[in-house]
Amino acid sequence: MRKNIVAGNWKMNLNRNEGIKLVEDVLNLLSSNSTSEVVFSPSFVHLYKVNKMCKSIEGVSSSAQNCSASEKGTFTGEVSAEMIKSLGVEYVILGHSERRENFMETNNELKQKVDISLKNGLKVIFCCGESLSQRKNEVHFDCIKNQIEESLFHLNETEFENIIIAYEPIWAIGTGVTASTDQAQEMHQFIRDLISEKYNNEISENTSILYGGSCKPSNAKELFSQKDIDGGLIGGASLNAQDFAQIINSF
Ligand code: PGA
Repeated sequence: MRKNIVAGNWKMNLNRNEGIKLVEDVLNLLSSNSTSEVVFSPSFVHLYKVNKMCKSIEGVSSSAQNCSASEKGTFTGEVSAEMIKSLGVEYVILGHSERRENFMETNNELKQKVDISLKNGLKVIFCCGESLSQRKNEVHFDCIKNQIEESLFHLNETEFENIIIAYEPIWAIGTGVTASTDQAQEMHQFIRDLISEKYNNEISENTSILYGGSCKPSNAKELFSQKDIDGGLIGGASLNAQDFAQIINSF
């Protein structure tokens, strides 16, 4: 059975003390009835500490926001999948639209990052999402299909079990505009069908597909009630303990 997951993507926000306080506050606010796994994704410099804080708590874990496409070597400033894994971290977010747009990450580079992450025992939260013009031109399904096919569909069935998909329409990220529940559910179902066609029904039913893009306390419950939405990748609202906890407790 697939898991419900709510992951907080801090992006390049919060200093060490702010990060520690946020994790403490969120953990204090979690409802014991929530059925969701919680993932904190701080910047690399906080990852060791944050991972230590959540490691012993069931259903709570940490994630990196990126990793290098290379194993090791002369790549000043980069962080390898092996380094991340060596901290005991469980997840890595790959293919966020900010990385695709600002750092020119291509589907092919992401494929390499996916491979190296899985090889090192990390689970991948793989982001995909269309731009506003792609949606307006009605090529959004093609865009998502392309991103998933080119970066993930070379994986075998066992490897694919370690993939979580995050559908994040670019026009909804940080804009306050959320995809409607119908738009989100429609795309999530499309993604699940794609996986089923490529692999099989069981794998597709077991894959968690998260929604991201202006998800907040006021819309989380409705989004998460859709049959193919298994949680969220939360940006802005994950920086506020009350908001993030409320989103998690929406399950
Ligand atoms: P947002 O960001 O929740 O601030 O829209 C989501 C994301 O970028 O993962």
